[in-house]
Amino acid sequence: MSKPLHTGFTVGGVAVDNRLVLAPMEDVSNLAFRLIAKEIGRPGLMFTEFVSAMAVHYGAAKSKHKMRVHPDEQPLAIQIFGGEPEIMAETAVIAEEMGADIIDINMGCWVPKVCRTGSGAALLKDPDLAELIVKSVVRAVKVPVTVKVRAGWDYSLFAAPDLARRFQDAGAQMLTLHARFAKQGFEGEADWDLIKRLRDVVTVPLIGNGDVKTPDDALKMLRETGCDGVMVGRAAISNPWALQKIHAAIMGHATPPDPTLDERIETALRHLRLLIEHEQLADPAQGELRACRALRGQIPLYIKGVQGAAVLRESLTKSSSYDEYENKLRGFAASLARPV
Ligand SMILES: Cc1cc2nc3c(=O)[nH]c(=O)nc-3n(C[C@H](O)[C@H](O)[C@H](O)COP(=O)(O)O)c2cc1C
Repeated sequence: MSKPLHTGFTVGGVAVDNRLVLAPMEDVSNLAFRLIAKEIGRPGLMFTEFVSAMAVHYGAAKSKHKMRVHPDEQPLAIQIFGGEPEIMAETAVIAEEMGADIIDINMGCWVPKVCRTGSGAALLKDPDLAELIVKSVVRAVKVPVTVKVRAGWDYSLFAAPDLARRFQDAGAQMLTLHARFAKQGFEGEADWDLIKRLRDVVTVPLIGNGDVKTPDDALKMLRETGCDGVMVGRAAISNPWALQKIHAAIMGHATPPDPTLDERIETALRHLRLLIEHEQLADPAQGELRACRALRGQIPLYIKGVQGAAVLRESLTKSSSYDEYENKLRGFAASLARPV
């Protein structure tokens, strides 16, 4: 009999207290984003954006900086990618030292710059090397090792079941399936039936992923596929309240109200402040500018759908300092509050 939806699961020895999982997203899932997500959306487990093992090997400070962990965000999986077993093991050890509760191996990234190096989803085409990488990382660290895969390289082969068996035998403690093939990129719909089919061969926790946007989607995926957790990515970008609603539904709680405009603005500014603090640790002089630029796509999304915000959103994409963002956002809120 399947377990009730409000119960969590464990990954190796790591307790995950609920079934909502925040996805790894490059240039999105940084420490600031994760802290906001945790505070509002309460995911049981979160992932960092992927970190290049090769870049860490060559001493790239920026890559190591991505692995900084805050105690409030644990349990946290640091995701790494690469195609060299030894270098992946070496980076996994560093990630463990940085505070990772789990090391996740990326075998889902389909973008050419990653696949060209034999990393990410390219490993789906080379099961022997993929298995070697898992073995090598498992051997190197004490924390649990997990793998995030796509269904396969192209539609002709649903490779995930064979890979999953190999990875489990090699010591992987959890699998995440983004239910699309690598060749699809983000096209078409995720095929949740593939998650169900993988459920039959996977004995470790299985996380389902792909196109979960609403509480209904999450409940449907959990019920229909038997997966242990639902991973949410795009729906959570600049919208931690999507996570909050999904979390409430999974836990059997009432649906929380939509955020007010003030909440959206204050959360956007807090997100920016947290990222500035984080970036300033790496680069005190340029940290603020770096953070402001990094969030040019995301801050405007916090007020997406708010009436009359289109012009402001456009202007926010050009902001270069905290004060500039704050003045524009607070000015907008004040203009709405003024009687016309
Ligand atoms: C901007 C962006 C960056 C991503 N970066 C990563 C990544 O670093 N590692 C990874 O495993 N998947 C990455 N993904 C894929 C997501 O983790 C997830 O599998 C995918 O978005 C499907 O889930 P969703 O429909 O909930 O968005 C990324 C997706 C997006 C949109």
